[in-house]
Amino acid sequence: MSRILVTGGCGYIGSHTIVDLLDNGYEVLCLDSLINASPECLEGIREITGKTIRNHLVDLTKTHEVDSFFQNQDPIDGVIHFAALKAVGESVEKPMLYFKNNVNGMINLLEACVKFGVKHFVFSSSCTVYGDPDQLPVTETSPFKPAESPYGRTKQIGEMLLEDICRLTPLRGVSLRYFNPAGAHPSSEIGESPVNPALNLVPIITETAIGLRDQIKVFGNDYDTRDGTCIRDYIHVSDLAHAHTLALKYLDENEMDLEVFNLGTGNGVSVLEAIHAFEAVNGLKLKYSMSERRPGDVPAIYSDNKKAREDLGWRPEKDINDIMKTAWEWEKSRRDN
Ligand code: NAD
Ligand code: WQD
Repeated sequence: MSRILVTGGCGYIGSHTIVDLLDNGYEVLCLDSLINASPECLEGIREITGKTIRNHLVDLTKTHEVDSFFQNQDPIDGVIHFAALKAVGESVEKPMLYFKNNVNGMINLLEACVKFGVKHFVFSSSCTVYGDPDQLPVTETSPFKPAESPYGRTKQIGEMLLEDICRLTPLRGVSLRYFNPAGAHPSSEIGESPVNPALNLVPIITETAIGLRDQIKVFGNDYDTRDGTCIRDYIHVSDLAHAHTLALKYLDENEMDLEVFNLGTGNGVSVLEAIHAFEAVNGLKLKYSMSERRPGDVPAIYSDNKKAREDLGWRPEKDINDIMKTAWEWEKSRRDN
């Protein structure tokens, strides 16, 4: 049985990935500093899978903590590296915090992986590496454009670090470029519950529906898109989670240094379409109004996911309606607790 370390395992995508790994027979170790999460999700993971996972409280920016964690473990076969700070706006205000946490943390982790003979490394990258793309849909060969934020820059740097380390050491890797992850586990046992306030569209929609916000502000309706609002590629977190399991399988079965995959549905959805999907699938009306454009937003981005379909055998099974249904169920259940 392969032993897999999941960094950032108490976070949103990490917790869903732990469930998928356990369902597929992997032994899982969870590491998280809890800077943007609580260990409560481990209870949800136990409810779903029947398996108990404990969190190793390690801050990846602390070299000695990382080293002593690996020193005290049996050999680890693969690492899935989610641990990072991810708030785009905060990264503009606190660039050093983001570079230290995301870049230094990754360097410490990579160093330990090489030192302790880890074979495989899966990195959480982002469509943000493409900046404002010249052509849609974006393929993995679309160039990196100037990053819109220090956060985006940490993802570009992370990919470049991994590329060099995989070329120059025995470690082999996969970078997964997520588009817009959203939704929750269908059981409502786990979902997105960040310590920091929600900034992304789907949690803002569900928080409005439950009455925590007066209304949704639609950031710009004068873009050159079909209804004037921005277009994104929303991908269900369970589909995203399964791609990590497939990436580990791919690393087991293929000889290469590093491969990169886009993870999106391939379908663009506008902000208004997302709001209307929520209303239709949940039978609720949402209050929203048109507002100024948000600085740094690109008008439209969606994926070409052919490579992940063909090489990983990945098939996203859920659409925007499933996202809105599970996100709403999760919002209701977490507020009940
Ligand atoms: P999240 O904040 O829910 O999870 C990240 C986890 O990492 C948190 O639990 C946090 O406590 C932990 N962490 C952060 N810094 C750490 C450190 N120095 N040491 C140990 N643990 C640390 O975020 P998420 O949405 O699950 O995102 C996971 C990864 O996917 C991140 O790398 C993020 O940049 C990337 N990503 C996310 C999105 C998105 O929209 N959610 C999109 C593209 C890429
Ligand atoms: C989606 C759309 C907003 C809130 C972010 C990061 C990106 C990646 C994914 C990590 C946009 C609009 C939003 C609101 C709105 N993360 N919106 N009103 O910005 O596409 O991507 O998450 O790597 O790097 O930037 O996601 O959910 O914030 O916005 O109109 O109150 O919803 O303008 O068009 P985004 P988002």
